[in-house]
Amino acid sequence: MSEQKTLQEASKEDGEINSRLKNLEEKPGETPGTEIKAEKLFEEFKEVSVTEFFRKNKSHLGYSGKLRSLTTAIHELVTNSLDACEEAGILPNIIVEIVELGKEHYRVIERDSGPGIPKKHITSVFGKMLAGTKFHRNIQLRGQQGIGVAGVTMFSQITTGKPVKITTSTGSGKVNEINLMIDVAKNNASIIGEEEYSDYWKGTEVECEMKGVMYYAGERSVYEYLRRTAITNPHAQITFIDPNDNKIIFERSDKVVPKPPKEVKPHPCGLGIDDLINMSKFTKVKKASHFLSHELARVSEKKVREIQEHLSFDLKKKKPRELSWSECEEIINAFGKVTFLAPSTEGLRPIGEEQIRGAILNVLEPEFEVVLTRKPTVYGGIPFQVEVAVAYGGKSGRKISDKKEEKGFKISSEIMRFANRTPLLFDAGGCGITKAVNEIDWKRYNIKNFETAPLTVVVNLSSTHIPYTSAGKQSVAVEKEIIKEIKIAIQEAGRKFARFHSKKQRAHEKEMRRKTLLKYSGELASALAAITGKNEAEIYSNLNVSIEERIKGEVGGDT
Ligand SMILES: Nc1ncnc2c1ncn2[C@@H]1O[C@H](COP(=O)(O)OP(=O)(O)OP(=O)(O)O)[C@@H](O)[C@H]1O
Ligand SMILES: [Mg+2]
Repeated sequence: MSEQKTLQEASKEDGEINSRLKNLEEKPGETPGTEIKAEKLFEEFKEVSVTEFFRKNKSHLGYSGKLRSLTTAIHELVTNSLDACEEAGILPNIIVEIVELGKEHYRVIERDSGPGIPKKHITSVFGKMLAGTKFHRNIQLRGQQGIGVAGVTMFSQITTGKPVKITTSTGSGKVNEINLMIDVAKNNASIIGEEEYSDYWKGTEVECEMKGVMYYAGERSVYEYLRRTAITNPHAQITFIDPNDNKIIFERSDKVVPKPPKEVKPHPCGLGIDDLINMSKFTKVKKASHFLSHELARVSEKKVREIQEHLSFDLKKKKPRELSWSECEEIINAFGKVTFLAPSTEGLRPIGEEQIRGAILNVLEPEFEVVLTRKPTVYGGIPFQVEVAVAYGGKSGRKISDKKEEKGFKISSEIMRFANRTPLLFDAGGCGITKAVNEIDWKRYNIKNFETAPLTVVVNLSSTHIPYTSAGKQSVAVEKEIIKEIKIAIQEAGRKFARFHSKKQRAHEKEMRRKTLLKYSGELASALAAITGKNEAEIYSNLNVSIEERIKGEVGGDT
């Protein structure tokens, strides 16, 4: 084939490349023209803060596009409120208000009934990136990175030049109100104004303005984001006041506060050398041997002895802080040679079958629904659990306006993706959840065309560490184990659906047969009356009774 090179051709090409490279090896001062010295080039060398990086690359945080940027900001604020309430054991009461101030210019207000933020931490929460209470803990919460809400402050400030207003109280009787911006170069808050007053209230309210964004009530809108949040958080009361002053309340359908998330220790199989070095700096224990059993899950003293057999140094004679990179590398390699129990899954907090079913019946009113929870399992040493629901008919699927259709719209199937109960509305294409659903052969479950079926597939992935593909947290990485679990759950749901569907199909066929027979019974009765000379009405009535009995008695004929 023309694209394939022979060995001779390839080695001739290599020779040519080498001689070209040799020609490039010039001696100092031989370059024609003016050569610029490294010292001069490095005059531009400068450190940038993390905030500076995200200011220039705000799309990494989800701030790209007018619709998406607004939804992203709401997502950051709402996930923080839900997390804070869950950790504090409070039933969330969340109010989101969007006010249109001008063309592509809005004010956003988000208020929660959470625990509030202590005064000394307010500035770091809203004015500093990579600061928070979740990043360093192995805990199943919606937030992970300590970037989200400072990203909202930054987006607001770079589109309007205005500060964000935070009002918060921990219920102490004092309310703190702070207006702040981010000093981008220093990744620090710059306070514009602050006030403290007395009031008995507990919670947090964030108010900011944004320009270059747009509100619309479509598939990826703030409304849809909150609707889906209500499906997977039935314990939350969410009120939305849209720019047209419509007030929509997603009522709480479950009055039980979910069990607070539990912090779990990292499992040795999910760790890298750098993770271990990092942990060794913060541990309070004195010996490296104790460090492993104290800071890691499933590492007993017996396991430490097994690990020791694969090391060239004595763990008992080292302080954790003294562990070098190569020693940590040895430990990580030793982890690969020792068998550990799988990570504990007690830190996982799935939504629950009953709660999902309740929410689906409430929101989608389907003809048929099946909800499935897989057992917790593990990817790369990190536990996760998959919950799946498939709803058919009723309000399931998505309405797409289409003027060619009689009703002005057509129905298409929809995939609702969630990670730790949080809706993922964007970046569906590269998401592991979408991939898993699309790999299902729906025809096997009597769905001839998945695209056009009135079907909603809900997938919620719970984990202490969701492998997001970017800081914008809108799509899950394609992890083999995760894809496999989602597919198994959907296939199981698919089999139940197929049984429902063939029952439905049989009932439909039976009804068609009944209608056809009844249609001809009139003609048959008059023909029989003519032949036998008996009463036509009587024959007609007897015929109809025997048709109904026949149809009713057909095998598998439950309607
Ligand atoms: N409404 C709130 N009530 C109480 N604490 C809050 C609230 N919002 C934010 N916080 C605190 O501020 C911290 C920083 O929030 P931020 O959204 O920046 O990061 P995160 O939620 O930890 O992670 P991520 O970047 O993934 O969202 C949180 O970890 C939490 O401790
Ligand atoms: Mg957050």
